[in-house]
Amino acid sequence: MNKDLMDTKNLYFPEPVLKEWDNGVKQYSTKRGNTEVLISYVPPGTTFKHKHKEAQLGMVISGELLVNVAGYERKLTPLDSVYIAPPNVLHGATNCSNQEVIAIDVKRYNENEKYTAPNEYFLEPFEKRDLLPGMGVTFFVEDWIEVMIAEIPSNGGEMPQHKHKNEQIGICIGGDYEMTIEGVTYNMNFGSTYFCEPREVHGAINKSDHASKSINLFLPPRYHRSK
Ligand SMILES: [Fe+2]
Ligand SMILES: [Fe+2]
Repeated sequence: MNKDLMDTKNLYFPEPVLKEWDNGVKQYSTKRGNTEVLISYVPPGTTFKHKHKEAQLGMVISGELLVNVAGYERKLTPLDSVYIAPPNVLHGATNCSNQEVIAIDVKRYNENEKYTAPNEYFLEPFEKRDLLPGMGVTFFVEDWIEVMIAEIPSNGGEMPQHKHKNEQIGICIGGDYEMTIEGVTYNMNFGSTYFCEPREVHGAINKSDHASKSINLFLPPRYHRSK
């Protein structure tokens, strides 16, 4: 790959940077602009709490994690609910199981964005349907962001190339598929993250023989403009 192509690739599909914390948590971080996506590996027995100026939201991919936002606590199981911690709101998590937990966390701060959250800081599924034949999706909706979990069917299941005014970010959480942004194609597998700015052309195809799964974020919401 020549340097220009490499720079473009890194814009849409950044190489993850590993962060290792004293409490044993490992995070793979990717970033574009003011948004950071973290794939977090939380060992059994770990507990932490903090706050920061970025808004943060996330969900559990595997295992069970007790998540606390501003004193409201929930036991999250894989893909069941999305927590939202607005800027400077205390939040934390405890892994009281005997298994490692894998979670996705997204941190973002833009001065012009208003980071709302539901009353008790946890979003339940808003709608489940087929976006395209065989492509089952589940939506979680807040005023400034929409989360869509999507199954991409095997043997050619496709989200055709398209563009829109919403920013879109996605993480592969199962199987593998090809993601193309502005003509740059990347083979997504577990943990791979893509970043797509407004009006950049993008699409996905799963050429493998097993279904794949992704978490996709739309800013602002694309399919449901309000809750
Ligand atoms: Fe945080
Ligand atoms: Fe899109």
